[in-house]
Amino acid sequence: LCTSLISSIAPKYIRYASTGSGVTHAKKVAVLGASGGIGQPLSLLLKLSPLISDLSLYDIQHTKGVGADLSHIETRSKVKAYVGKDELADALKGMDLVVIPAGVPRKPGMTRDDLFNTNATIVADLVSACAKNCPRAIIAIIANPVNSTVPIASEIMKAHNVYDEKKIVGVTTLDVVRAATFVAEAKGLDPTRVFVPVIGGHSGNTIIPLLSQVSPPVSFSQQELDSLTTRIQNAGTEVVDAKAGAGSATLSMAHAGARFSFSILEALNGKEGVVECGFIASQETEFKYFATPLLFSRNGVEKSMGVGKLSEYETKLIEKAKKELNGNIQNGIEFAKQYL
Ligand code: NAI
Repeated sequence: LCTSLISSIAPKYIRYASTGSGVTHAKKVAVLGASGGIGQPLSLLLKLSPLISDLSLYDIQHTKGVGADLSHIETRSKVKAYVGKDELADALKGMDLVVIPAGVPRKPGMTRDDLFNTNATIVADLVSACAKNCPRAIIAIIANPVNSTVPIASEIMKAHNVYDEKKIVGVTTLDVVRAATFVAEAKGLDPTRVFVPVIGGHSGNTIIPLLSQVSPPVSFSQQELDSLTTRIQNAGTEVVDAKAGAGSATLSMAHAGARFSFSILEALNGKEGVVECGFIASQETEFKYFATPLLFSRNGVEKSMGVGKLSEYETKLIEKAKKELNGNIQNGIEFAKQYL
């Protein structure tokens, strides 16, 4: 009976692990902002994965409770909880991957840029601690505005002489997740088999879904292109409005953050061909930072896969995004100069 029970439970967990190879090379992961709306369910999903040996939870409040709770789950990873600035250094030592969902979320009527003043300092403080305590870790930034927090993180790492552009990535996976869901709904497809590359940035019209490059290939009328593009760009606001003051996307973001983390960990373990979209320092576009599909390896981001062949419609979307994206990036760089 025991054996059959274990084998019936195991596959559910393995869904979150998606590889057997990771078990012997399990990695150390920290979640900064672990007590929040995203941080808690994200930590739960990470706790379920055998890709992780050590799960380090950090927040300025409530982590001891979250940690005690998660530590009772019968999976291999060891959970340690750290609370308050004095414990931040210990939370980071030895980490392979640091995921940052710390910071305030939007309320109805706010843009992601409205979060800049609060979240810029939070991210700068946390990344400074990473530079000192785990300079070689990959840093995955969820905190908004991602278009600015990634440049901030990069400037901080540069100032500490530990910058590696392969290791600082803004998490745009939720845009990819939403695009797949909405395209699958519109075309009657299985959402788990749909991939829509999303490029650009992570706010309003800087989110650019490449509906001409959907896998499996599908074609759209101009009306469908317009309505799907608008919905993908405004999907975050759909959730903010529905939550009516109680925050922004947390559960779907936790899933997206876990998916992104598992992909990185699989690549760190040597799996080949791992691709996820992410917002990084860009070599091949006219922007200083730009989201594209990225190929991950044992080093972090191995290379950008570029933007592929764009339709005229998508080229126009990039043109429209230019001012906002460049402005957001510049704000981040300027902030870092003041901060440092
Ligand atoms: P929340 O307010 O529920 O949780 C934030 C957590 O961060 C809280 O537990 C808070 O105590 C903690 N925190 C604040 N200052 C901190 C510091 N200095 N160090 C460590 N922890 C600190 O917010 P929620 O909903 O979890 O959102 C977090 C961030 O994620 C927001 O900036 C939000 O805009 C962003 N977000 C990003 C998405 C993306 O696609 N990249 C999607 C959805 C949200």
